[in-house]
Amino acid sequence: MKALFLSAFVLVFAATTCQVEASEDGVNLVNLGNVEGKSYFAGTSQMNWMIARDLCRNSGMELATITTQAQVDFLKSKYNSTTFSGYYWIGARDSQSFRALSWDSTDTEIETLFGIKYRHFAAKYQICAAYYSGTDETVIDAYECTMNDVTGLICET
Ligand SMILES: *[C@@H]1O[C@H](CO)[C@@H](O)[C@H](O)[C@H]1NC(C)=O
Repeated sequence: MKALFLSAFVLVFAATTCQVEASEDGVNLVNLGNVEGKSYFAGTSQMNWMIARDLCRNSGMELATITTQAQVDFLKSKYNSTTFSGYYWIGARDSQSFRALSWDSTDTEIETLFGIKYRHFAAKYQICAAYYSGTDETVIDAYECTMNDVTGLICET
């Protein structure tokens, strides 16, 4: 119960001041508001997806998920040409938890065979999702996770 009161207080505080300082790299997270019991925070900074995820976690949050119509409608309603506009990393990436190899000819995954070692040197995830907040279009785009051109992130708690 104490934890609930504390988080309620933090949310009220965030809503009142409208800005919460991220603990590292100086990213300001702006409280977009609450929908279906969770709060979305948006921040602006050029970063790749891994760094975006770390920034959310450093603030005790996770990259945002958008899983219901109400959440889509909510984010759409928050479009603002100065404060919430453009591309924001969100918490989706390749559906494989770890990139796997398939034989090109048969499209079947390489199985572990006796006497041969499998080593993975590539990035764990290759494509990651960014939410686009715009005037007429609302889009989820897939980019290379390592791309630095995405200028924002959305965390949730
Ligand atoms: C966008 O955000 C700014 C800063 O908070 C605010 O002054 C302005 O009214 C907002 N615009 C719209 C259309 O809500």
